[in-house]
Amino acid sequence: MALQGIFTFFCSLAVLSSSAALLQNCSSQTQHLSAELEVAIECGENLTSGWSTQRTAALLLSLRDLTDTLHKHQLQECRGAEPNKCPEAKVPHHGGLACVTVAKKRYCKPLCSHGYDFAFIRRSRLYEECSKQTGFRWQTQYVGGNKLAVCNESPIQVSGASSAYFPENQDCLKTKSNSTLQSAIMGVFVTELRNQGIQDSPEFACLVCG
Ligand SMILES: *[C@@H]1O[C@H](CO)[C@@H](O)[C@H](O)[C@H]1NC(C)=O
Ligand SMILES: *[C@@H]1O[C@H](CO)[C@@H](O)[C@H](O)[C@H]1NC(C)=O
Ligand SMILES: *[C@@H]1O[C@H](CO)[C@@H](O)[C@H](O)[C@H]1NC(C)=O
Repeated sequence: MALQGIFTFFCSLAVLSSSAALLQNCSSQTQHLSAELEVAIECGENLTSGWSTQRTAALLLSLRDLTDTLHKHQLQECRGAEPNKCPEAKVPHHGGLACVTVAKKRYCKPLCSHGYDFAFIRRSRLYEECSKQTGFRWQTQYVGGNKLAVCNESPIQVSGASSAYFPENQDCLKTKSNSTLQSAIMGVFVTELRNQGIQDSPEFACLVCG
């Protein structure tokens, strides 16, 4: 019995170490992942024409798990920003948050994707602040939380300023995947802060997608 226990122990060690070795090679083993996914997308329906329903479902399942991992990773981009006493603001689904720190104050601007609108009117309210002056809490229309905005499905966009919506065919992830597009969105935000007299140079700039 003791022997069996030891055997089981070594078996689990072997499993653990082989999965650890697999993890060490994650980058090298997945270096063509983006390229292969792009080819698969280009193929369209030709990709799956001979596939069994099981194979299709299994790949959907894998992609769902992978999407989850990637999404969590991109959400972490704003972590570690000063002032670090500020809690992490929640990122609206169907939108994003553009954030910068200026003169020790954290500003986050909620944006909704095209086809979505803010739940509350906020046309003159471009961004929210968290700083020593706010007690290191987020100013928000939502009581006592880190939720800054909600983006609801809507055929018209009227509740926010026009700059608070991602352009049509350019949602948050599309913006974030292209440094030119991201710089443009962040540039508009910094200009808006300057227009409010918030002039110092921005630090810890980031865009996170909900
Ligand atoms: C990890 O990569 C190295 C070098 O590319 C290779 O020698 C090794 O066999 C790989 N290990 C696994 C578990 O794939
Ligand atoms: C799909 O396959 C057909 C027939 O082989 C081909 O004509 C078509 O170009 C393919 N489409 C793509 C997107 O590869
Ligand atoms: C990024 O967006 C710009 C502006 O739309 C476009 O010209 C450029 O080709 C895009 N870059 C990539 C890598 O997609």
